[in-house]
Amino acid sequence: MKIACTGRSRALGARIAEILGAGLVEARTSRFPDGEMYLQTGALDETTVVVGSLLSDATLVEVLLLIDACQRSEVLLVVPYLGYARQDREFKPGEPVSARAMARALSTGVDRVVTVNVHKESVLSHFTVPASQVTLEAEIGDFIATLPLSDPLILAPDRGAAPFVAAIAARGGWETDHLEKTRISGEEVRMEPVRGEPWTGDVVLVDDIISTGGTLAAAAGMLLARGARGVHAVCVHGLFAGNARPLLESAGIRELASSDTIEGPDSRYSAAAPIARALSR
Ligand code: R5P
Repeated sequence: MKIACTGRSRALGARIAEILGAGLVEARTSRFPDGEMYLQTGALDETTVVVGSLLSDATLVEVLLLIDACQRSEVLLVVPYLGYARQDREFKPGEPVSARAMARALSTGVDRVVTVNVHKESVLSHFTVPASQVTLEAEIGDFIATLPLSDPLILAPDRGAAPFVAAIAARGGWETDHLEKTRISGEEVRMEPVRGEPWTGDVVLVDDIISTGGTLAAAAGMLLARGARGVHAVCVHGLFAGNARPLLESAGIRELASSDTIEGPDSRYSAAAPIARALSR
């Protein structure tokens, strides 16, 4: 078995390779004069695990080319961050179901797909090959346990994230709750507490994705104004679009952590072990 990863998923690919005792195969890319991408891999094995997050249109092309370059072997596809998954239905007439479009494209030439904390599990049904997700409750719980927290509350920013966050809290025996979120625009949200009593200990906000940072910045502002001792933020997929990092910092968030499904300065824990376990099944 060989692991072939895209340029933006190299660290995670190497961690998966180490756990599985598999070799890494290099995939080099360059551009043709007209801007099209060129890709070449090294020697393959009978089975190739292609690892590539969908972070942009260019990374989609890179994943598609890498899958095609590996066609002489069985291909297991790992998409650590499945971009476009939030457009999971036709919200307005004439819109695509982008999640379906991606899933169909990524099913071509692969035998199986593994992803991590997909935005909605129903998205997996759009793949035309067996597709599963791993979820990082254990990894997030272990990470939170390393933080110097006093009287922590593990808080979901909305009702949808509440079961995931409750499972994380259960691992450490911590208190848990969720907020009510109303989205006003792409960047702006209103956050309201559900519980009457303000929390005066540390609060750890946990979400699947941080994109603009608007959700967690609004939550942090409200929690600190109500007397929280400190606010920390942990997500699975740290997109940190635009000014997300300074926004979260100026909102008073002390610790910011994401997994390595999107590799960056805030990748403080890894998705490699559960992905490796899923590939071994
Ligand atoms: C929404 O349903 C997701 O779970 C996240 O809460 C959302 O994507 C975060 O986006 P932003 O950081 O832009 O507020």
